[in-house]
Amino acid sequence: MLTKIDHIGVAVKSIDDAVPYYENALGFKCEGIEEVADQKVKTAFFNVGGVHIELLEPTSPDSPIAKFLEKNPHGGVHHIAFNSSDIVADLANAEAKGVGLINKEPKIGAHAKKIAFLHPKFTKGVLTELCQDGDCGCH
Ligand code: CO
Repeated sequence: MLTKIDHIGVAVKSIDDAVPYYENALGFKCEGIEEVADQKVKTAFFNVGGVHIELLEPTSPDSPIAKFLEKNPHGGVHHIAFNSSDIVADLANAEAKGVGLINKEPKIGAHAKKIAFLHPKFTKGVLTELCQDGDCGCH
């Protein structure tokens, strides 16, 4: 079951440049910076009342975030992630209802969460991630 918004992914050119805006102008504290090699991104997380903002900076020119920044040079909202209590079941349910999947099997994302993306062609234009808490103990 999908229970809440886990995080909103925001593409940025530079985490070093974006973190002071979130910390100083908005007053949120950066909870940590983590590189996710599999997704070719560096991430920074801010806790906003239990929902997180996930900043995403590409670490490689062939990162999906680098491609997004080519089309959106100032950065912008990249995806919404819903918390899943059982990601395998939720993926199977979405697929059974006709939703195409980018990831048929969950991958490991930041904070050791299991993550998978639905295809935006089937999600009314919003890139949608499902994520299930991992056992890193940090959330
Ligand atoms: Co995400």
